[in-house]
Amino acid sequence: MDSFSTVIRTASQEQHTEAETSTFMSDLLGGKLGVDAYARYTEQLWFVYEALETGAGGLAADPVAGPFVRPELFRLAALERDLAHLRGPRWRAGLTALPATRAYADRVRSCVEGWPGGYLAHHYTRYLGDLSGGQIIRDRAERTWGFARKGDGVRFYVFEGIANPAAFKREYRALLDGVPADDLEKQRIVAECKKAFALNTAMFQALGEEFPLSA
Ligand code: HEM
Repeated sequence: MDSFSTVIRTASQEQHTEAETSTFMSDLLGGKLGVDAYARYTEQLWFVYEALETGAGGLAADPVAGPFVRPELFRLAALERDLAHLRGPRWRAGLTALPATRAYADRVRSCVEGWPGGYLAHHYTRYLGDLSGGQIIRDRAERTWGFARKGDGVRFYVFEGIANPAAFKREYRALLDGVPADDLEKQRIVAECKKAFALNTAMFQALGEEFPLSA
């Protein structure tokens, strides 16, 4: 039988490709959009990570989610520095969530509050992605909009507390493989992971509508 980390990865592979090749992501990474689109995307991430990280401390003792609550992953402070750079010191005043972002953050919040397995699904979808493809996005953003390497504007993608991301990801997969959940709960977690990908894709779709190339 496949390990849980393999199951969850395989189950979300198709949707990963969909997210990766979404019009908004392709345009953003293809250098076709202005820094305003990147800033708007970063604002949306703020709502997602605010939901993921506020109250996550309350899951620290949970047998399923607890081992994944790692402060070195937390991104909210980095996002806030990026937004101050991108939008200026009054960045908070102009911060708004797209409806798709609101739906995503609401779903994450309800998992944080009531379902540790669901939180794990959202945790995996975002943080393992940020540690992987996020590095490609950072590199592209630095080149396209001239941010300092690993500096303000792209701090979200820089995990200061993780010296060896490959080793961290190996450890993360081992934690997934040992998660103390029965088969039914694991199936539910995989289903939530697929939902997490769908929520990301919906957010990209909404961003794509806000930043059509022809505009
Ligand atoms: C253009 C955007 C993206 C690129 C270029 C990209 C690229 C990659 C690459 C190369 C890996 C493999 C890393 C490895 O094997 O260690 C990966 C893994 C991953 N990505 Fe992405 N990705 C993108 C977008 C996304 C998005 C939007 C999400 C979800 C929100 C996501 C979630 C993940 C996850 C969860 C993994 C870990 C898979 C696993 O090993 O279990 N990625 N990504």
